[in-house]
Amino acid sequence: MIGTKGTVVAVNGNMVSVRFDGAVSMNEVGYVKVADQRLKSEVIRIRGDVSQLQVFEITKGITVGDEVEYSGDMLAVELGPGLLGQVYDGLQNPLPQLAEKAGYFLERGVYLDPLSIEKEWAFSPQAQVGDQVERADTLGTVPEGAFQHRIMVPFNLYGTYTVSSIKPAGSYKIRDIIAELKDDKGATVPVPMSFLWPVKRPIDCYVERLKPVDPMVTRVRLVDTFFPVARGGTYCIPGPFGAGKTVLQQITSRFADVDIVIVAACGERAGEVVETLKEFPELIDERTGRSLMERTIIICNTSSMPVAAREASVYTAVTLAEYYRQMGLNVLLLADSTSRWAQAMREMSGRLEEIPGEEAFPAYLESTIASFYERAGIVRLKDGSMGSVTIGGTVSPAGGNFEEPVTQATLKVVGAFHGLSRERSDARKFPAIHPLDSWSKYKGIIEEEKVAYAHGFMRRGTEVEQMMKVVGEEGTSIEDYIIYLKGELIDSVYFQQNSFDEVDAAVKPERQIYTFTKLLTILASQFSFPDKNEARMWFNRLRQRFLDYNGSVWQDERFKSLEKEIEEAVKGQSQGLDTAAEKILA
Ligand SMILES: Nc1ncnc2c1ncn2[C@@H]1O[C@H](COP(=O)(O)OP(=O)(O)OP(=O)(O)O)[C@@H](O)[C@H]1O
Ligand SMILES: [Mg+2]
Repeated sequence: MIGTKGTVVAVNGNMVSVRFDGAVSMNEVGYVKVADQRLKSEVIRIRGDVSQLQVFEITKGITVGDEVEYSGDMLAVELGPGLLGQVYDGLQNPLPQLAEKAGYFLERGVYLDPLSIEKEWAFSPQAQVGDQVERADTLGTVPEGAFQHRIMVPFNLYGTYTVSSIKPAGSYKIRDIIAELKDDKGATVPVPMSFLWPVKRPIDCYVERLKPVDPMVTRVRLVDTFFPVARGGTYCIPGPFGAGKTVLQQITSRFADVDIVIVAACGERAGEVVETLKEFPELIDERTGRSLMERTIIICNTSSMPVAAREASVYTAVTLAEYYRQMGLNVLLLADSTSRWAQAMREMSGRLEEIPGEEAFPAYLESTIASFYERAGIVRLKDGSMGSVTIGGTVSPAGGNFEEPVTQATLKVVGAFHGLSRERSDARKFPAIHPLDSWSKYKGIIEEEKVAYAHGFMRRGTEVEQMMKVVGEEGTSIEDYIIYLKGELIDSVYFQQNSFDEVDAAVKPERQIYTFTKLLTILASQFSFPDKNEARMWFNRLRQRFLDYNGSVWQDERFKSLEKEIEEAVKGQSQGLDTAAEKILA
C-alpha cells in the first residue's frame, strides 16, 4: 500500500500546513522530507484537503513545496521487554544510543529502535496450543530485572483467538515469533514479543477499575501522615520556581512503595535531568537489592527540544506505565513539569488560531489535563491480579500563583494537592509542602482524627503567630504562646525532613506511626511554665532532642536513650493530658 502524500503549503514555527491527496486521519504520523532527512510530525487538524502537523523537530529549512509522507499509523510506542532502565526522549528514542550515533548535539530526523532487537530473553511459555486467548492474555514470561515481564497477546488484537503454536522455553529476540494465533476465520496471526500501541489511547485491557484506597507510601512524613497519596490515585505538586518540586519528585522516585517508576522530565533544565541520570544507576533499591535504574524508565525532554515533543513525552510515559500495570505491577508516573506541556498546548493552539481561553490557553486545556490524569487507576486484571498506575505531576505556575489555569485545571481532577510554598522554601523548610494549604482526599497511614488533632496545633499555632505580629509577645497569653510553641515543634520535628540525612530523608511507615504517637502525647500534654521565656527554652531543648531522635537509627541504643530522655522531660513538665485528647489517644 502506498501511503498518502502531501505538500507543505505553509510553515508556522513548529507547525506546518500540508495539502494532501488521499486519506489522512487525526493524530496520524507524517514525515516532512527536508534534504535527506525525514522529520517526524503528527496531524493535529484536518480541514478539507489541508492538514496541520506539529513537527517534533526543529523546523529550520522546511519550505513550501516540501514533500510529506503520511504513515497511516498513530503516534505509537513499542511495548516489550527491555523498557526498564531506558532513558528515552518523548518519541521513545533511546537517548544514550542516540547521542552515540549522532553526537551530543542530537541530530534531527534520526530515529532509533526503542528496544534492542539483538538482545536475547529467556522465554517461558505459559499458554498452550489450543488455548482460547484474547488481547492482553499472557502467552509466556521473560525475566526483566526483578520482574516477570508478561509476553501478552497484543492489545490491538480484538476478538478471540486460538493458540496454534507456541515456542518452547528458550532464548528469543523481541522480533522473533513466539506464538501463532488463529482467528475465527482461520487466518494465522504471528506474535512477536513486542508490539506497537498508540500513545493517546488508554490501555484498557482490565476487568474493572477500583477505587484507590491503599496508601502509596512515599516515606515523606508530611505526605504519608498528613496528605497521603493512594495507589492508583493522582496528586499534584504546584510550586513556584525553585521551591523544591523536582527534589521532592526525586525523593519519591527513590523511596515510593511501588514496583516501577516512570519519570517524565518534560521541558526541565537539561542539567537537572543529567543529574538524575548520573545518580540513578549507582543507587541501590532496598526492595530488590538491585540498581534503582533497573526498575525506572526516564522520558526526558529538555527545554531545548521543540515544544511538540513535550506533549509526546507525557503520553509516551503514561502508556508505558499502563503497559506495566497490565503485568499486575504498581507503577508510579512522575511528570515534571506539566506546565511545560500546557505551554506547548498553548503555543500550538495559537498557531492553529483557535479561540483562546483563559491566559491564552486553549479551551480544551481542562479536558486534556483531566483525560491525562484519568489514565491513573487501580485495576483488576482478567487473571485476578491487580495493577496500578499512580500519577503525580508538578505544576510551575508563574509567580507561584495557584489561581492560574493549569493549576486550577489540575486541582479539579487530582485526589491530593501538595502545594509548595515560597515562604517555606525561602526559610529552607523542606519539603516545602504547605501544611495549611495542602489537602488530600485519600486515607493515610494514621487515623484521621489523630491527624486532625495534631494538625489543629499547626493551624492554631499559625493563628497565634499572626496575632503576635500585631500585639507582640507581651500581649499574648501564655496558653496561646504554648500552642504556638507546639505548632513550631510539630513543624520542625515532623513536617520538615532533612533530605541530606541518611536516616531522616526517608521514614518507613512503622516509624512514622511510632514517632507520630510520641509527638501526639506531647501535643496533648498540658504544660505550665512560670513565663514565656522558660517555655521557649524548654521547647527548644525538646526540639533539639527530637531532631537527634529523628536522625538516629530506628530502635538502636541511641534512639532508645533519646526516647527515654524525651519521655522523662515531658513527664517532668506535664500536668496531665488535655481531656479532648484522651479519647483520641486511647
Ligand atoms: N527536600 C529538600 N531538602 C533540601 N533542599 C532542598 C529540598 N528541596 C529543594 N531543595 C533545595 O531547593 C533547590 C531547588 O529545588 P528544585 O530544583 O527541586 O526546585 P523546583 O521547584 O523544581 O524548581 P524549578 O521551578 O526551577 O523547576 C534545590 O537545588 C535544593 O537546594
Ligand atoms: Mg524543577
